[in-house]
Amino acid sequence: MKTRRILLLLQACMLLTIASAQSVIDIQVKKTTATVNPDMYGIFFEDINYGADGGLYAELVKNRSFEFPDHLMGWKTIGEVSIVRTSPFDRNPHALRMLGAAGLENEGFFGMGFRADESYRFSVWARALEGKTANLQVGLNGLGCADCQAQLTIDSPEWKKYTVVLSAPNTAKGTLSLLLSGGAVEIDHVSLFPVNTFNGHENGLRRDLAEALRDLHPGVFRFPGGCIIEGNTLQTRYQWKNSVGPVENRPLNENKWRDAMADRFSPDYYQSYGLGFYEYFLLAEEIGAAPLPVLNCGMACEFVNDITKEGDWLVPLAELQPYIDDALDLIEFANGDPAKNKWAALRAEMGHPAPFNLKYLAIGNEQWGEHVAPRLKLFAEQIRKKYPYIQMVGTAGASPEGEEFDRMWREMRTLKVDLVDEHFYCTPEWCLNAATRYDKYPRKGPKVFAGEYACHAFGLFKSENGFASALCEAAIMTGYERNADVVRLATYAPLFAHVEGWQWRPDLIWFDAHNTYRTASYYVQQLFACNKGTHVLFTQMAGAPVAGQNGIYATAVLDKPTGEVIVKIVNVARSEANITLNLHGLKGTRNATITTLQSADDKADNIGHEEQVSPLITEQTLSLPAASLCLAPRSFTVIRLKK
Ligand code: AHR
Repeated sequence: MKTRRILLLLQACMLLTIASAQSVIDIQVKKTTATVNPDMYGIFFEDINYGADGGLYAELVKNRSFEFPDHLMGWKTIGEVSIVRTSPFDRNPHALRMLGAAGLENEGFFGMGFRADESYRFSVWARALEGKTANLQVGLNGLGCADCQAQLTIDSPEWKKYTVVLSAPNTAKGTLSLLLSGGAVEIDHVSLFPVNTFNGHENGLRRDLAEALRDLHPGVFRFPGGCIIEGNTLQTRYQWKNSVGPVENRPLNENKWRDAMADRFSPDYYQSYGLGFYEYFLLAEEIGAAPLPVLNCGMACEFVNDITKEGDWLVPLAELQPYIDDALDLIEFANGDPAKNKWAALRAEMGHPAPFNLKYLAIGNEQWGEHVAPRLKLFAEQIRKKYPYIQMVGTAGASPEGEEFDRMWREMRTLKVDLVDEHFYCTPEWCLNAATRYDKYPRKGPKVFAGEYACHAFGLFKSENGFASALCEAAIMTGYERNADVVRLATYAPLFAHVEGWQWRPDLIWFDAHNTYRTASYYVQQLFACNKGTHVLFTQMAGAPVAGQNGIYATAVLDKPTGEVIVKIVNVARSEANITLNLHGLKGTRNATITTLQSADDKADNIGHEEQVSPLITEQTLSLPAASLCLAPRSFTVIRLKK
């Protein structure tokens, strides 16, 4: 977290005389109302906005297996080059033949971001033709250096993997070139990765982006979608079994987001599945988050299909078993004994004999309508029978209210799913109102997973990021936290966006070839996750939950292991707020760490430039039980009272 530390003896409104009305927040330090799920605040990853290929997945080569429908998309060629169907990888059957003095150049995803003094591992599957060895020159272009090149001798008539490591002397955007100086070769799966990936994995993740995830301290990690698990058609749904095993033989799939937004057409957007379920589970483990995979429930995307009739978007109940098997096999892949199950054995073969400790599983993304419950019922029967410890996540549909939402909740209750996934992309007004949404939710039955949400302050689905959104998200999150007995998990959406290739915004983390941009919304998520505590404390203003009085939204938690009381306060007003924190049950003085996220600029977004909004940390000594504080206009403040 980028912070500035300032030691303050006293933080008080500068002009108390003209300041706004005094707001008194009463916190009963001895009265807990709910426990906070340790997994509560997490992340949701989907391959949208070039989040996976071209983003988190560190592969720099686009269309590395020549399997895009336009087989040479992303490549420039010189000389005699042709596409052939001789690949050694049956699920990626195309390869490329080069004859004589021929060359290739790959443009990467909006260019390749090389960094000074970093090493890059190039690899290619190749075979020499015509009984002769051939020389292939590999080069990193755009760096202005003659020595970012290496020679490979393709010496075998059999398919073989060749590898060489190249260094970049400076930071620049560039391309990859391959030059054949004579002879004839066939090549496939042309790959270039930074050596320095997150935790050094060869088929790894872009380090800066994965670090941004780790720094969020997520409790749960929902993946891989979102709409992409549904697919425009059932054939193009995300099938996890295609995303595991040797990376060269994971078949390409289209990406639904390629043409989902008419005005943001992304013709070169496909899913290589290089970042697949093994990599997702590994990432979850390495960032300390509980994995929460989402599987197709036998329905393709309802937004793009005619759901008034049964059709090939819907799997007949009698044909659902392979989909259910996918769920059962996934549990084995994640948790099973390699000696007893082939999917568990594959996990071990891929490098992880120990289980991944899967405990959450979502069936369906945001399905709605009469067809969902009968399908989910079949999944639930078999999953519960074999794996009763799995917490099943059902869906509330695509809308956070209305007839379908009510229907889905009714059905999820009947099915007794453990959690219901609610999605809301909303205006600031809606978000602020929704800060009390869960106060009246039934306490019995399924719990809530706020699986996708974000405030769109400047227009739905095309909104720029901005501090105004972040502030409203903080407000609604106080509602989650106050109702932590009902809301057990929450993940903002979407997670990533490439500055040059987004389809949907706002998003939590932006990036380009070299940089990561942590938005104001990112810092809100981080502050909640790092300060979630363990028990909610009874907190009120004027006898009611603190949810909008004088523009203030607040919650308080106790962190039992440390004995710290943590208070979160959002001030959406454009004026300072004088607050009295009445901490009933505490007295004397306590040192407090006060972290503030504040901006007068609603559009401050941190994207493409120096950060305009980041947490500011101060230290203060508070006199108790009634401590006076002055909150900045348009601010989110976390007060952590040390024991
Ligand atoms: O987060 C973007 C999309 O929003 C998700 O794919 C989908 O679940 C929702 O409609």
